[in-house]
Amino acid sequence: MLYIIILCLFSLTNAFSYGNVAVIGATGNLGKAVVHELCKNKISTKILNRQNNSSNLINLYNEYPNIKIVNGDVNNYESIVKLLEGVDTCIAVHGSKRKTRLTDIIRRNVNDLNHPVNVNYLGMINIINAAKITKTKHIIRVTGNGEKPWSIPSIIINLFGSMHKAWNYAGECELRDSNITYTIIRPGIMHNDIDTDFSLILRDNGMFLHPTKISYSKIANLCLDCITHPNVKNSTLTAITTQPGYGTSSWIPLLKNVKSDTKEFPDKLLIILKHYIAVSIISIILVFLINVIIKNMLLLPVINRISWMIL
Ligand SMILES: NC(=O)c1ccc[n+]([C@@H]2O[C@H](COP(=O)([O-])OP(=O)(O)OC[C@H]3O[C@@H](n4cnc5c(N)ncnc54)[C@H](OP(=O)(O)O)[C@@H]3O)[C@@H](O)[C@H]2O)c1
Repeated sequence: MLYIIILCLFSLTNAFSYGNVAVIGATGNLGKAVVHELCKNKISTKILNRQNNSSNLINLYNEYPNIKIVNGDVNNYESIVKLLEGVDTCIAVHGSKRKTRLTDIIRRNVNDLNHPVNVNYLGMINIINAAKITKTKHIIRVTGNGEKPWSIPSIIINLFGSMHKAWNYAGECELRDSNITYTIIRPGIMHNDIDTDFSLILRDNGMFLHPTKISYSKIANLCLDCITHPNVKNSTLTAITTQPGYGTSSWIPLLKNVKSDTKEFPDKLLIILKHYIAVSIISIILVFLINVIIKNMLLLPVINRISWMIL
C-alpha cells in the first residue's frame, strides 16, 4: 500500500515525467527560451557552457537550483559524455554563427572549430556517440529544412553563413541513422516577439511548409512537449504559424496526429553536393554581374565624352 502511495506521489512530480534533461546551445536565442521553460517547470537540467565564447548569461543560470553547468564544446567528445551522464533527454539547439570568408575557397574548413562542418555535423556525431555511451534515451534536435538546396533562403544562408544549411542537414541524417530515439524540429523563421494571434501548424515526415514567423518561446514549448509525448519518437517535424483560425493554440492536439518517419530522406552526400553546386553557381553569376556593373561604371564617363564629341 505504502509503495503504491509513494509511486502515486512520485508520478505527480515533473521530475518523474520529464526525467533529466541536457541543453546544448543554452546561450543562444532558442536555448535561452528552452532553459526558461525548463526552469519554470523545475526540471533537472544540465547545460553545456563554452567557456571562452558563451555570454554572461551562464552566470545567471548558476542561480537556478535545477541547473547544473558543464564546461565543454560539441567539438570536445569527452565534455559531451560528461554532459550526458545521467541524462534522459538531450535538447540540441546549438548552431554555428560563423560568417563566410573569402579564404574559405582555399582553406580546409574542418580546421576551423566554429565552422558548421564541425558544429552542426561532426558535433552532432559527437553527441550521438556520447548518447550511446551514456544511454541517453532521446535526442531532440532543432535544425531547418535543408532538403531544398536551390531555394533562395537556402542559398542566402549558405552563401553568407558558411554552408550552414548543408551541414545541418548532414547532422540530421546522422541522427536519423543513429538508432537513438530522435525528434528533429524544423521551425519557421524564429523571432523574439510574443506571438499574439498565433495559430500553430505541425507536420511530420519532414513535410515542407513555407516558412513563416514563429517565436522562440513557441519552439521552446514544443521542445518540452516532445520530451514526454510518445508520438514524436523518430519523427522529423516542421513547425510554423498560420493565419488565426487555421491552426491550434497549443502543440498538444497537433502532437496527437504525429507519426514516426516513413519517408526516404534524400541522400546526405547528394544533398551536400547540391548545396555546394547551387552556392558556387550563384557566386559565379554574382561575381560576373558585379564585374559587368563595375566595368560599365568605369566606361560610362568615356562613353559620355565620346557622345559629346560626336554631338
Ligand atoms: N533563427 C532562426 O530563424 C532559425 C530557423 C530555423 C532553424 N534554426 C536553427 O535553430 C538553432 C538555434 O537557433 P538560434 O537562433 O537560437 O541560434 P543562436 O542564437 O545563434 O545560438 C547558437 C547557440 O549554439 C551555441 N554553439 C555554437 N557553437 C557551439 C559549439 N561549438 N559547441 C557548443 N555550442 C555551440 C552557441 O553558444 P555560444 O553562445 O557559446 O556561442 C549558442 O548558444 C540553430 O541550429 C539554427 O540553425 C534557426
